[in-house]
Amino acid sequence: AATDWKNSNWECLDSPIIVMPPKNHKSKPSSIFLDLLKIVVILALIANFGCCATAETKTDEVTFEPMSCEWMQHCSKKKEGTPPLLIISSDGFAHDYLNEEDTPNILKIAECGSQAEHLIPSFPVKTFSNHYTIATGLYPSNNGVVDNRFWTTEGAEFDQTNGSFFNGEPIWNTVVKNGKVAKVMMWMGSYDSINGIAATFHHNKYSKVSSIEKLENVTDWLISDSPPDLAMVYIQDPDEAGHHYGPGTKEVRDSTKKVDRHIRYIFEKLHK
Ligand SMILES: *[C@@H]1O[C@H](CO)[C@@H](O)[C@H](O)[C@H]1NC(C)=O
Ligand SMILES: *[C@@H]1O[C@H](CO)[C@@H](O)[C@H](O)[C@H]1NC(C)=O
Repeated sequence: AATDWKNSNWECLDSPIIVMPPKNHKSKPSSIFLDLLKIVVILALIANFGCCATAETKTDEVTFEPMSCEWMQHCSKKKEGTPPLLIISSDGFAHDYLNEEDTPNILKIAECGSQAEHLIPSFPVKTFSNHYTIATGLYPSNNGVVDNRFWTTEGAEFDQTNGSFFNGEPIWNTVVKNGKVAKVMMWMGSYDSINGIAATFHHNKYSKVSSIEKLENVTDWLISDSPPDLAMVYIQDPDEAGHHYGPGTKEVRDSTKKVDRHIRYIFEKLHK
């Protein structure tokens, strides 16, 4: 189908959108790449990456009108060529955090697009391991990232900014190898080149930046005159609140709501 893409026009949100996980079921993380989807919202039930308290106000005070599927799929700006793929990972987002009150927008995206019936994380259920599993389709035992923190048998401590610790081919490298553009916002494995190839745009290290700043910049890539073919963004909410306060607390619900509003905000921006 690759040859057809070049000549086809696309509207920014006119094809399936997928929300993962919820519901109770099992699938391989890599299966998300088997479908040609434009937006993949991965609500990752991944633990142990507590960090980064930052003030975020932009979307917190805004009340958005409910989205309709028609509005979500409408796009005023037509572009030529391959539609971009946007992958958002929201860390520590347990499947039962989804409900009408806290996450109406994510549920609406699922309703208008599609929703995975099931997903199981790879072992160990750690942020670094699983994010690199999503990027490569390889289990941690093969992708090299066997924990958030570990030492090699030679005694070298894992350094996420050193590409030599990472095995396999992350999806952004596949994109680059095919002559396309991949921009990655702080996804595990993206900070250095791997086997001599790196994402077209990436940061050199993780830094404590608010979720909304990351999402804003990624949305700016997409609405620019030359959007990337692949955009990936990792956001640390609501994992941090989950570590500090635990599921069911006001803090976790506030953080979950914030993610939902941020994602809504992306849609608003894409429609401008
Ligand atoms: C990356 O890690 C490898 C293996 O531990 C090490 O040999 C190399 O010096 C490291 N590179 C940098 C730039 O730190
Ligand atoms: C977002 O974009 C602004 C403006 O270009 C830049 O200053 C900032 O560093 C970017 N933030 C991230 C996390 O990339």
